[in-house]
Amino acid sequence: QFFSMAVIPGDGIGPEVTNEALKMIKKVEELHGGMKFYSEHFEWGCDYYLKNGRMMPENGLEILKDFDVILFGAVGAKTVPDYISVWELILPIRQKFQQYVNLRPIKLLRGMESPLRYKNHEDLDFVVIRENTEGEYFNSGGRVHEGTPYELAMQNSVFTRFGMERILNYAFTLAEKRKKKSLTAATKSNAINFTMPFWDELVKEISGNYPGIKTQLYHIDALAAYFVSRPEEFDVVVGSNLFGDILTDLGAAIVGGLGISPSGNINPERAYPSMFEPIHGSAPDIAGKGIANPIASIWSIGLMMDHLGHDHIGKLIVDSIEAVLVDGNIRTPDLGGTATTVEMGDAIISKMAQL
Ligand code: NAI
Ligand code: MG
Repeated sequence: QFFSMAVIPGDGIGPEVTNEALKMIKKVEELHGGMKFYSEHFEWGCDYYLKNGRMMPENGLEILKDFDVILFGAVGAKTVPDYISVWELILPIRQKFQQYVNLRPIKLLRGMESPLRYKNHEDLDFVVIRENTEGEYFNSGGRVHEGTPYELAMQNSVFTRFGMERILNYAFTLAEKRKKKSLTAATKSNAINFTMPFWDELVKEISGNYPGIKTQLYHIDALAAYFVSRPEEFDVVVGSNLFGDILTDLGAAIVGGLGISPSGNINPERAYPSMFEPIHGSAPDIAGKGIANPIASIWSIGLMMDHLGHDHIGKLIVDSIEAVLVDGNIRTPDLGGTATTVEMGDAIISKMAQL
């Protein structure tokens, strides 16, 4: 089976962790003879911007469109304002390719300890489904009277029935496949009085089609607190673009930090490529030191395998990561060790061959 993969390592630690993920792809090909990846690399990002005045070529999306999958590192550097680097590279890919599901597992891996020390592994295992094409990250707004006392900025959120229905249906369907059969939707309909009541209504309406699923709506502020005080309650958590973004960095923190947590930007209909990336950014504070944790990027390959219909390989990748964490000798500094990015990647990949 043959897959085409576009690789965009990006900025900062992006290329460092992506290298380890690519080693994992090679290992997968080796262990599973039938699977082959044709990959092409694109050096797009902030350096590209400094040379060309844009984050990717004008026909960048056209170039990407026919790939099966995209492996992404991270974007962002001090040389380019973040709203430009984000809005000209990662968000267009997510939005134009209708990658409306941003799937982010929040799972305490074996061998990891949660900062919430009393939580055990079975307790901390849920998925956040983040809406990924509209909501608060919609390119609409304006800024006027700059530099004057009358300066003002406005940013519009956009919630469509179509957009909400498709993400909610995806989340409910996922909840049906999971053990706890429960879905939690993030809201803020007490204060955000147009979009959020609309969201709440659709949650309730659609929940009617999934009678086996226990459905709850929590205000985002309370929900954030529950992520810390009673995370064992959650199974599938669904939220808008901004809420899902914030919840998943918090989610990452309760299972061991940003170095661990992967994500899939998925177009379930497969009309366009889906994209896999760590949830973390370019981490300029540690970039170039060779100490970034590659687990999030390697685990993202696991999600890619799930998406491509090879769940057993996805599971094997997670098992390999867990086995190395259980051994405990090789850990990057964010996990309290002294290993380098490459050592951590090598350990996981050689473990994979033994399982
Ligand atoms: P960040 O995720 O890059 O870093 C936050 C903290 O987590 C830092 O202390 C960093 O060292 C640590 N960290 C992140 N990944 C790590 C890893 N693999 N191993 C060990 N430690 C790790 O978020 P921040 O600092 O808010 O943003 C930095 C840049 O990244 C900005 O330019 C931002 O716009 C961009 N960004 C890009 C994203 C993307 O490409 N999808 C997502 C989030 C931020
Ligand atoms: Mg984020």
